[in-house]
Amino acid sequence: MLAGQLDTLAREAARLKPLHLRELLAAPGRFEQFSRRAGPLLLDFSRQKLDEPALQALGAIAEHCGWQQRRDAMFRGDVLNSSEQRPVLHTALRSGESQLPSPAPEEIRSEIAQTLQRMGELVDALERGDAGAYGIPAGITDVVNLGIGGSDLGPRLAVEALSSYHSGRFRCHFLPNVDGHEMAALMRRLDPRKTLVLLVSKSFTTQETLLNGAVLRQWIAQAYAGDEARAAAHFVAVSANVAAAQALGIPPERVLPMWDFVGGRYSVWSSVGLVLAIAIGMPNFRAFLRGAALMDDHFRSADWRDNLPVLLALIGIWNRNGLGYAAHGVIPYLDALSELPAFLQQLEMESLGKRVSADGGELLQATVPVVWGSVGTNAQHAFFQALHQGSDVVPLDLIGAVRPAHALRDNHEALLANLLAQGAAFALGKTREEALAEATKGSAAEREALAAQRTFPGDRPSSTLLLDALTPESLGALIALYEHKVVVQALLWDINAFDQWGVELGKVLAKSILPALAGNAATESFDASTRGLIATIRALS
Ligand code: F6P
Repeated sequence: MLAGQLDTLAREAARLKPLHLRELLAAPGRFEQFSRRAGPLLLDFSRQKLDEPALQALGAIAEHCGWQQRRDAMFRGDVLNSSEQRPVLHTALRSGESQLPSPAPEEIRSEIAQTLQRMGELVDALERGDAGAYGIPAGITDVVNLGIGGSDLGPRLAVEALSSYHSGRFRCHFLPNVDGHEMAALMRRLDPRKTLVLLVSKSFTTQETLLNGAVLRQWIAQAYAGDEARAAAHFVAVSANVAAAQALGIPPERVLPMWDFVGGRYSVWSSVGLVLAIAIGMPNFRAFLRGAALMDDHFRSADWRDNLPVLLALIGIWNRNGLGYAAHGVIPYLDALSELPAFLQQLEMESLGKRVSADGGELLQATVPVVWGSVGTNAQHAFFQALHQGSDVVPLDLIGAVRPAHALRDNHEALLANLLAQGAAFALGKTREEALAEATKGSAAEREALAAQRTFPGDRPSSTLLLDALTPESLGALIALYEHKVVVQALLWDINAFDQWGVELGKVLAKSILPALAGNAATESFDASTRGLIATIRALS
């Protein structure tokens, strides 16, 4: 952002700081003024420390940056990922479900449609128990998704969120980490002859995924007395590096492509979502795409004042650059969305965790806050103490669904009551006077001390996102909402949201440490700490 824009935010923040959220919330029509709907999602941001002039100032910044042009350039397939010279076309993956015509290149859309068709045929064949044409043996009961980062988090979130839509035909498992404990436990539980492995890696160079793939391949081969070909029949690959997948002995009919124009963390809509399609069936997978397309159409057509992704982005920028908050909490009041904080961590922190612009210039403003969270009400009994009374303010997204997927009405009402109560408590707090009035025992000094500890400062902002119900459509819309939030923030912060150079250094170092750990390489070139730790590990192992 420009220095002048940051000054505007600082001025607006200074003007609003003395006003407590209690006062802002008391204004007539506050909810109507600061809540918006798009399809199955309602965004209530009336508990953000914002008023109309501050919102207008934020909107003016977005307009000045040309958010519509950036949005249109993305949907069109312009090269937005400049450091890797790639277009950014995850929206094309769901454009078949859009009401608006897609401006993405025709040949890309047709390749996507063909891949979706192939994926559908494979899923249908598996569902019928008739995947022999693919060389997959009959009797598959368990599907293991091997992938990490974007090849894990999106599919894992969606598979768990949509458990009430599972066909029940297969049990789905996720094995992202190279931690052998998980792998060993999974191998103890599953029958290798009934296991299908999805090897999901955009690059097909990721150490964790390839190593885990090799271990499972050996495990399955052992069940066939070392017959490698029969073991290979249990593998399906998803990759942008189709040649590398085929080089592992997986034939073309079991390799589904994805593409360089889809970033890993934006890829759940592609064949990376195969495990989801297997879990919920193709009609539900298409409904998931439809929900995202609905959000795409909304993003493409609504004025910034009514545009949920733009508003979410502006609220984030306000809290980070106006009010100076360094963290952002995501609290879904739905166990089914328990993976959402982890998914958003990658989406937001890998996309926006940068301190230089695409042309290498140092940015003037702070960028992505630390994104973290956990489900309510569990979180209330764990870390909400600090959120209510600690020294740092953490703005929150509180997320719930109006209609549950079960008939236990009392449970669901209790869940929603907690969601609403927490947002109110964070905003309103409890004054010292109110706390003092409750302290009836002890001396005046003791009552004062207790009241101080029972005072809630309040004035702590949150947004509430209410889904009509958690369905494939609303989940698709929710994920696409956050994707577009990131795109708008990237524009305002002048960041390339589609590369991730920050993950490379550690990967390279791990490769050089591995032989030293095994005692096959010298350690002098490492720093003192690494040398000491290698020596300790080697002495004990
Ligand atoms: O290490 C980061 C990362 O490159 C992510 O961006 C990506 O989602 C993940 O690794 C997995 O990559 P791949 O799908 O290529 O195995």
